[in-house]
Order: sequence, then structure tokens, then C-alpha cells
Amino acid sequence: MEAIIEKAKQFVKVNCSTESSGHDYHHAMRVYNMALYLAVGYDVDLNSVSLAAILHDLDDPKIVGDNSQLALGFLKEHVSLDYQKQVIDIINNMSYTSYLQGKRLSSLEGKIVQDADRLDALGAIGIARCFAFSGKNGHLIYDNSIDDKSAIAHFYQKLLNLDVLMNTTEAKIIANNRIEFMKNYLEQFFKEWR
Ligand code: ADP
Ligand code: NI
Repeated sequence: MEAIIEKAKQFVKVNCSTESSGHDYHHAMRVYNMALYLAVGYDVDLNSVSLAAILHDLDDPKIVGDNSQLALGFLKEHVSLDYQKQVIDIINNMSYTSYLQGKRLSSLEGKIVQDADRLDALGAIGIARCFAFSGKNGHLIYDNSIDDKSAIAHFYQKLLNLDVLMNTTEAKIIANNRIEFMKNYLEQFFKEWR
């Protein structure tokens, strides 16, 4: 399985090398490393955690449209049907969009990967990713409102509230620290804005 996990990393590196909205190979690797860290002390299948974390954004409809199935293709080629199902179930149900649609992750493996992904939307890197995503999608940095589509508005509409959605205790602690940093950033932002 170790060799397959390495192959998955290479697969994401090749397929996400030009992704510039914050869902690139480095995001996948941060989510993978964070997920393994969060998993310490839990009785979980680290292979499912690893594969789901590494492959989770390959087919995100926001990035590649509706009909992409790269992760499934990779899994079909390399792992058992059981693993394919476990990993695809996590990937299909872990996004914020899925959460808003009422979908919930049943496995602890999924909850850990979801926490790791959500943590990457917070802190210094979260701020960078938010601006990258906004610019790529044609939105302003800020337009004097927190109710529109600007990057700063996204902080208020989603990012600053992610702490309560964390599944694990450790992720909640990290989220709180990162959100504190973001609030300090916003204070400085608005000082300069005025
Ligand atoms: P998830 O991967 O949990 O579904 P998203 O893909 O929506 O979450 O978010 C991933 C990253 O994209 C986050 O860092 C988030 O800040 C950024 N992002 C998503 N939607 C927006 C938006 N409307 N404006 C700015 N950034 C966004
Ligand atoms: Ni992600």
C-alpha cells in the first residue's frame, strides 16, 4: 500500500500542477500530512485516510466541472473494491457544498480528512487560498460589504465559522488559533482600508 500512496501523490502532482485557485498538489499534501497528524491516537485505517486526503480535490466540480472521475480511475487500477468504496464515499461527502446539502460523513476516517481539509482554509494559508480562489473566479478583494462575493466577505460567510464544524478536538483547537490570527489580519486590513 505504501507504493500505491506514493503513486497517488505523483498522480495528483501531474494532474494538479497548473491548478491556481488553492487546490493544487501542495494543498493535497498539506491535507494529507494534517490528516495523518489528526489521526494519531484514533483507531482508523490510515490507508483510507491517506488516499482520500491525497485524491480529494482531483474531481471537485468547482475546479474541473461535473464529469471528472480521475480519483475513481486511479483507485480502480490500484486498490480493492472495498477501498475504492471507502475512499470515494469520503471524497464525495466531505466538501462544504455536501455539508450544506445535509450530507454527513459516516466514518471517522472521513471526519479526520474533512477536518484536515477545513483547516487548510484557515490561518495564513487559508487567507492566501481565499484570495487566490477569489481572483481566479473574478471576484473583488473587498467591496465595502460582507454580504457579496468578495474575498473578505467569504471570511464572514464561511471561514470564521469553520471552528464549530470541526469533528475532532485537536482540529477545533488548531482552528481556533488560526481564526484568531485571521481576526487580527482583518483588523489590520480594515485599518489600512480606512
Ligand atoms: P471544500 O473543499 O471544503 O468544499 P471549498 O472548495 O469551498 O471547500 O473551499 C476551499 C478553498 O476555496 C478555501 O480556502 C476557500 O477559502 C476557498 N473558497 C471557496 N469558495 C470561495 C469564495 N466564494 N470566495 C473565496 N474563496 C473561496
Ligand atoms: Ni481541499
